[in-house]
Amino acid sequence: MSIVFLNHVYLPAEEAKISPMDRGFLFGDSIYEVLPSYNGQMIGFNLHINRLNKNMSAIDIGLKWSHGRWMEVCEALLEKNGLGNLGIYLQVSRGSVPVRSHAYTKNIDPTIFAFSFEIAPEQLASKSKVTPYKVTTNLDLRWARCQIKSTALLGNVMHFQNGYQKGFNETLLYNGRNELTEGSTCNAYIVKDGVIATPPLDNHVLPGVTRHILLDLLRKNNSMQIEERVILMDEVFSADEVWVTSSSKEIVPVVEIDGKIIGNGKVGDIWLAAQKIYSIGKRDY
Ligand code: PDD
Repeated sequence: MSIVFLNHVYLPAEEAKISPMDRGFLFGDSIYEVLPSYNGQMIGFNLHINRLNKNMSAIDIGLKWSHGRWMEVCEALLEKNGLGNLGIYLQVSRGSVPVRSHAYTKNIDPTIFAFSFEIAPEQLASKSKVTPYKVTTNLDLRWARCQIKSTALLGNVMHFQNGYQKGFNETLLYNGRNELTEGSTCNAYIVKDGVIATPPLDNHVLPGVTRHILLDLLRKNNSMQIEERVILMDEVFSADEVWVTSSSKEIVPVVEIDGKIIGNGKVGDIWLAAQKIYSIGKRDY
C-alpha cells in the first residue's frame, strides 16, 4: 500500500481525498514535477525544485517552501515506500474554492500533493540493453505556454494517446513551420555528422531537467558539438540518430519515425557516448 503526502499529512493513497472544487480539478490550475530516484538517491533535486518555484511564480501561486522542506517530503516518501527505482511526483494546485469562477483571489490555501511510483531502472549505457523507440509525429496542437509544467496536460495526453493506440512509444511534435518542438512527454534531439542538436527553449518547449543536465555534461566533456537551434522535420527524418529525454527514461534512442528508418535503424554510437557521460555525471546534479 503506498503512502502519499497530502496537505502536510502522510496517509495511505486510498485515504487521500481532495475537494472536487479544487481548482486543479476544475481548471487544471496547478503545476507539477516528476523527479527520479534510484536506491534513495534523487537526480536533479535542486533543478526540479527551482523549476517548481519558477512555475508557481508563473501562475501566481504564493507557496514559499524551502528546498529543505521539499527534501523532507521527498525523503519521507522514499523512506515510507521503500527504496528502489522510484519517481517522485510533486503537485501544487491553487487550492479549493467555494464557487467556480475563472478569477481567483490570493487567499486560497494551495493543495500540496506528493507520491512516489515505480519507474524503469536506470538506463544502462549499452546498445544491447536499451530498448529503442518507434515514434509517430503530429502537428503540435498544445497551447502556447508549454514552458510551464502545468497539470493541464490534455493536449499532451491527446498527442501521446494518438501514437500509443497505433503502437508507437512516443509522438514527436512539430509546429506550423515544420519545426520540431518536443515529444508529448519528453525533449527531442537529432544527431547529424557527429553534431547533436535540440530545439532552443521557448514557449513551445518544456525546459527539461534531463535536457539541462545532459547539455551541461556534454559541454563540460567537450568532446561533442552541441547546437540549440531550430530543427526542420526533414532534418529529423534524415538524421543519423534521434533521441528523446525525460526524468523517467533518461536518454532513449529513436530508430523509426512514422515507419521510416532513422540512420541505419540501429542504436547509434553518439547515443552510447552521451548516455555514458550522463550515467557517470547525473548524480552531481
Ligand atoms: N515529462 N517535455 C514534456 C512535454 C514533458 O512532459 C517532459 C517530462 C519533458 C522532460 O522534462 P524532464 O527532463 O524535466 O523530465 C519534456 C514528465 C516526466 C511527465 O510528465 O511525466
